[in-house]
Amino acid sequence: MTLQHGLDSQIVVVGCGISGIGAALKLAKHGFRNVRILEATGRSGGRIKTGRMGNNIIEIGANWIHGPSEANPVFCLSRQYGLLDPESLTAENQSLDIGGHPPWLPNWFSSSGRKLTVEQMGPAMELFGELLEEGSEFSHKGGEPYNSVGEFLRIKMRQRVAERWQGDSLPCQSLRLSMLNTLLKVECCVNGTHTMDALGLGGYGLYKTLPGLDCTFPKGYEGLINNLMKELPTGIVSYHHPVSCVHWQREARKAERVHPVTVECAHGERIPADHVIITVPLGYLKKYHGTLFSPPLPLHKLHSVQRMGFGTNNKIFVEFDKPWWDEDCDVVYLVWEDESDLVDQVADVERLWFKKLFGFSVLKPTERYGHVLCGWIAGHESEFMETLSELEVKHSMTNLIRKFTGNPTITPRRILRSQWFHDPWTCGSYTYTGIGTCVQDIHNLAQPLPLNGEQPLQVLFAGEATHPSFFSTVHGALLTGWREADRLISHYSTPSTHQPTRSKL
Ligand SMILES: Cc1cc2nc3c(=O)[nH]c(=O)nc-3n(C[C@H](O)[C@H](O)[C@H](O)COP(=O)(O)OP(=O)(O)OC[C@H]3O[C@@H](n4cnc5c(N)ncnc54)[C@H](O)[C@@H]3O)c2cc1C
Ligand SMILES: *[C@@H]1O[C@H](CO)[C@@H](O)[C@H](O)[C@H]1NC(C)=O
Ligand SMILES: *[C@@H]1O[C@H](CO)[C@@H](O)[C@H](O)[C@H]1NC(C)=O
Repeated sequence: MTLQHGLDSQIVVVGCGISGIGAALKLAKHGFRNVRILEATGRSGGRIKTGRMGNNIIEIGANWIHGPSEANPVFCLSRQYGLLDPESLTAENQSLDIGGHPPWLPNWFSSSGRKLTVEQMGPAMELFGELLEEGSEFSHKGGEPYNSVGEFLRIKMRQRVAERWQGDSLPCQSLRLSMLNTLLKVECCVNGTHTMDALGLGGYGLYKTLPGLDCTFPKGYEGLINNLMKELPTGIVSYHHPVSCVHWQREARKAERVHPVTVECAHGERIPADHVIITVPLGYLKKYHGTLFSPPLPLHKLHSVQRMGFGTNNKIFVEFDKPWWDEDCDVVYLVWEDESDLVDQVADVERLWFKKLFGFSVLKPTERYGHVLCGWIAGHESEFMETLSELEVKHSMTNLIRKFTGNPTITPRRILRSQWFHDPWTCGSYTYTGIGTCVQDIHNLAQPLPLNGEQPLQVLFAGEATHPSFFSTVHGALLTGWREADRLISHYSTPSTHQPTRSKL
């Protein structure tokens, strides 16, 4: 079996997000001639999605390059395509190691319409940072002395608040706890989870950060997708082609089938293939694994699909005529004074969903965006928000901001929000490590099928969820696409007894 032979093999990539594009491009550049991408929607980019609000470019999906430095392929490509601001390219900013927490200058507002001072808030933020650090050490210790990250944080926060600030008045301690409550909601957004109680301590340290000060794309993240798409051979993407079932062979023997896999599309088309690279989001896989694979996924793989978490984090962009936050402010935190119980879930979701919104990040620079805030809300509350009309969401945002600023006249110009949970091809935002998960679960997700037999690598798995340390990111997704392309490339480059049989052309 020669490489030449492999280059004729039929390869179908399911999904035209960054991982699918990355895989197809690498294969095409290597000389594979029969690569096809099937995409359910009418666009490429998946969770990289740039939109407009008036004249402003806004990111409905991915926002930042996390850790823009030499080891980050998304940074290197974006630099090469000329998509980044000069400040993002400086050696100083590339070498800043922020450990996933950008040095954002906060403004704090409380539900009684007071602006809180940084002196009041600083110690709580420090405490929270400390505990996140401690929480991430369990993954390489093996044991998990707490049921979840949420339980760990809650117990430790109560202990340390009592120890550290025992001299403080009760209202002051209560305010500190309320702030910590807000920080729990921040972390729900960062991890894309309903509650920190859904996060396993064993998986909490798996996520790795890269050096570099997180940066954005002045003309939109989709510029990266557009540049990559230009490099793909024309016509290899079929849009509006949702795949409904991948028929594979559990123990195919040589020559049993010319093409071991049949990819069935929702519209009835059946496409024969040697290899299929699945890049659908984990949220989609959780919902449809039962019909997407025939025969079904092996149990250990299915269990990992179920254990791994996929939650919702949405953005609500709000535009104002003039700012009500400080000029140097990067993030606005909202503190509910009636929430000192360290609970990150809202009891009455339909009536009080907006209490889950931790606050807003400020779109910068102002010359580019005007006065636009980006609200962040995770969990079931966020999923419920998606079902409301834009007008209803605008009303809630108006009332919320009036309450916290104590200014009854502030009125947003317009709003725009994302709806990732109800996106039928995504079913949420991104992956987190659920209760009881460890790195083996991610390896299981990435493991190709079938597990044995003479026709290996029929079904391969890429996508953000399959990266053992960069899950939930764009660079993680891209690297998994390249990984699966490399798997096929080396399969056909190294002599092996396990080669698929090809028809004589
Ligand atoms: C709100 C939000 C904010 C984010 N912020 C950041 C950030 O700041 N920085 C960062 O690095 N990452 C961020 N992410 C995560 C990042 O966007 C993703 O990790 C990455 O884009 C995933 O790429 P992917 O190729 O794995 O999946 P996707 O981009 O989801 O691509 C999968 C594709 O498969 C298609 N598909 C699904 N089902 C089928 C089917 N049956 N048949 C055919 N096609 C199908 C989908 O339509 C989609 O196009 C964010 C995500 C969200 C939602
Ligand atoms: C680093 O990035 C920040 C934010 O974009 C910018 O303000 C600053 O000027 C940059 N530093 C350098 C040395 O360019
Ligand atoms: C949650 O996010 C933080 C910060 O990005 C990260 O350190 C941590 O590992 C994440 N945890 C999970 C379970 O994804």
